[in-house]
Amino acid sequence: MNVAQPESNLRGACFIRAYAKINLTLDVLGRRADGYHALSTVMQTVDLYDTLCLSALDEDRVQLICTRPELDGEDNLTVRAARLLRERCSIRQGVLIELHKRIPVAAGLGGGSSDAAAVLLAIQRMWQLQVTLSDLGEIAAVLGSDVPFFLQGGLALCEGRGEVVTPLEPGWPMSMRWLILLKPAISISTAAIFRRLSAHNYSDGSHSSRVVAALQSGLEPQVEDLHNGLERTVLELHPEVVQARAEMLSAGVPLVRLSGSGPTLYASFPDLSRAMQVQKRLQARGYEVYLTHAVYPEMGNINVLFK
Ligand code: C5P
Repeated sequence: MNVAQPESNLRGACFIRAYAKINLTLDVLGRRADGYHALSTVMQTVDLYDTLCLSALDEDRVQLICTRPELDGEDNLTVRAARLLRERCSIRQGVLIELHKRIPVAAGLGGGSSDAAAVLLAIQRMWQLQVTLSDLGEIAAVLGSDVPFFLQGGLALCEGRGEVVTPLEPGWPMSMRWLILLKPAISISTAAIFRRLSAHNYSDGSHSSRVVAALQSGLEPQVEDLHNGLERTVLELHPEVVQARAEMLSAGVPLVRLSGSGPTLYASFPDLSRAMQVQKRLQARGYEVYLTHAVYPEMGNINVLFK
């Protein structure tokens, strides 16, 4: 990649929000020769975010400081993202990444992937690198299947192993405008769920294509199309998710869905007061519950602060 070198001793800091996502649909089409699964999934970013602050380091290295110390270290996807972009652009300027974590970890909300995409965007912006979104997309795909989606966020259809992203016009259903995310107190490994899939979990992608068609025409998607091909396997393996789902249903939520490989479950509401009632009731049962809504990150998620 041919990129102009950033000015040395660039000062200042760049704050960026890294939003979580939910999967409105997730069709698993089948297993590919490379071991990944072919997917067709509709994803939407939601207003639950980690905050990152990137600043220049005098030394030639990448350092991460995270509010959850167990996530510090060389393996964190944010560190790998910064390293990869520095390598591809032959940059020697060091970077400090401060990460204020709020999105639950290993929860099906894409937090780690979103943080990595935010690092790519922030470094590009801070040092005004002449890399295109498509260059960033290639780097993002090396980091993880979900990472390219988060470069733009919003509403998108993601295919391939997830990295082939088609952004969609904003079209989140009005009837789903308030969202409750319930995170059962377990973490789930995405790889472990995908490993357990077999042919009866596969679908032909028509749930996702019907939902895209509905959203693009300003129509409500059919409930039966809000399908997640990983849900059955997650419920079979994790009684905690079965229990949480039952609690949500008994709180009067008509429709509960799993996000990604879980364990986070979500429900939607047309009005805030009902969403709050359900949130309070589930919190009183001891659950971690977030009240949120769909969001489009291009509405100002980067703040560059220069001295
Ligand atoms: O791409 P990423 O590293 O986020 O994926 C984590 C794991 O989930 C992969 O190692 C793979 O086992 C599984 N996976 C899959 N098919 C996909 C995406 C992920 O099998 N499309």
